Parts: sequence; structure tokens; C-alpha cells
Amino acid sequence: MKAIVLGGTTGMGRAIARLLAERGDGVFLMGLDAPDLERSSADLVARHPGRGAIGFAVCDLERPEGFAGALDAADAALGQFDTVVVTAAMFATQEALEQDVELTRRLVTVNYANTVVFCEHARKRLIARGGGRLAVFSSVAGDRGRKPVIIYGSSKAGITRYLEGLDHKFYAAGLRVLCVKPGFVKTGMTAGLKPPPFAGEPDAVALRVVRAMDRQKPVVYAPAMWALVMLVIRFLPRFVMRRIGF
Ligand SMILES: NC(=O)c1ccc[n+]([C@@H]2O[C@H](COP(=O)([O-])OP(=O)(O)OC[C@H]3O[C@@H](n4cnc5c(N)ncnc54)[C@H](OP(=O)(O)O)[C@@H]3O)[C@@H](O)[C@H]2O)c1
Repeated sequence: MKAIVLGGTTGMGRAIARLLAERGDGVFLMGLDAPDLERSSADLVARHPGRGAIGFAVCDLERPEGFAGALDAADAALGQFDTVVVTAAMFATQEALEQDVELTRRLVTVNYANTVVFCEHARKRLIARGGGRLAVFSSVAGDRGRKPVIIYGSSKAGITRYLEGLDHKFYAAGLRVLCVKPGFVKTGMTAGLKPPPFAGEPDAVALRVVRAMDRQKPVVYAPAMWALVMLVIRFLPRFVMRRIGF
């Protein structure tokens, strides 16, 4: 692969970037902070000297005017990327979002509107070169409207539907879309939240995601247990959802 990882300096994005670099794939990191990106790409080069190409560019999901330039930089460094992984997103608790409409605007813009815009730039390039892979992190929070994650979950629900539609329309053109639905995973995003019994680790999730990309699956839950949990939750009737706190 010649893979862009937007969000590749932290959490599950970093674990995926490391896994790809380890097996010799080209990796181009994108994220918010230039020094962080520089450190992370130097780390990949040091761990796997002489393997696939490594590079980086700043790409802020609040600044869509920078998307095309960042993708140009990835093309130049990798010699035309064929894979795009998007893990970058914002999280805030439902309580914080209910009290701050500006935070809500930012979160839904970053997690939905601007993620779609970034993916559209990437998707057009991939299809123009005969296809490729687009793997984007949604969440189990997007599977059902739930009290603790109404706003964050709605941004992920939008991404899930967008990716599903892309798969339907562009599969024949060679685009392989993967919608990743993590449950609770121990990363910076969930620091301070109480982990449930089957909370996942970033490295195990990365392995599951890369395997799903290799096998060209359209959807993957990680850890796997969440597929079962959400199967039950998806079928709970509305009067039950109104009563429970999940
Ligand atoms: N952890 C979980 O339990 C869980 C569950 C379900 C879904 N997810 C999803 O999984 C994905 C990865 O999350 P994670 O748990 O690995 O957390 P993470 O390490 O906090 O990753 C989120 C990344 O997004 C970046 N980011 C935030 N705002 C950005 C912006 N405006 N432009 C570009 N990058 C931005 C962050 O950069 P900085 O660190 O520099 O701010 C960070 O690198 C996210 O899409 C998340 O919604 C996570």
C-alpha cells in the first residue's frame, strides 16, 4: 500500500501507521501538529529503515482549503497514494456539547461535513487512477440514537451512511470502502472515561482494521465483541431505549 493516515500520530491511527510501515507499506502521516508529525514520521523511519516511503503534512479538518495541498504532498512523497485511512475526529461528552453550541458546531463540522469533503477529494483521485482503498473511522455510537452520545453519535451516523453509499456507487469503479466501527478503545480520546469490561487496545484494533482492508471488507467492528452488542442494541424497541441509559 501507499497509504495516507489522517490522524496517524495518536491512538488507533498511530497503531495503523506503525503496522503498515512494519510490513513495508508507504505511509504518509497527516494531522494537526507539525512537530508531532515530524517526530512520528522520524520514529517510523527509525523503526523500519529502508522500507516503504514515509512522509507527512499538516492537515486540519477545520480548514478544508488545505485538503488538496496535503493530498498533493502525499502524492509527491508516495508516488500516487492508493489508500486513505481517516482516524482523525473530535470527541466531547454529551453534557459538554449540550452546554456549548459552538463546540457542537465544530464537532459536527469536523466529524461529518469536513471529513466528507476530505474523502471526496481523496475519492476523486483514487477513482481517476483506477481505484484504491478508503478506510474511515466511524463508531458504534452511530448505529443508534443514544442518550449519552446524541451529537457525537449523529456525526458518526452520517459518516456511516456516506461510506455505505460510496461503496454502493463506486465499488465497480475499483473503490474499496471500509467503515470502521470501534467500540470503547483505550486511547487519548477516552482517557478519563470509565472503560467497559471488554474495552479494546489500539494495536489489536489496528490489526483487525488492516486485515479488513486486506480482505476488502466494507464494515468492521473492533473489538469484535461490539458487533454482537450493537446487533442487540439495533433491535431494541424505542420504549426500551427511552428507559435505559446506554
Ligand atoms: N477510542 C474510542 O473508544 C473510539 C470509539 C469509537 C470511535 N472512535 C473513533 O476512532 C477514531 C480514532 O480515535 P482514537 O481513539 O484513536 O483517538 P485519538 O488518538 O484522540 O485520535 C483522534 C485524532 O484526531 C486528531 N484531530 C482532532 N481534531 C482534528 C482536526 N481538526 N484535524 C485533524 N486532526 C484532528 C487528533 O489530533 P490531536 O491529538 O493533535 O488533537 C488525534 O490525532 C476517531 O474517529 C474516533 O471518533 C474512537
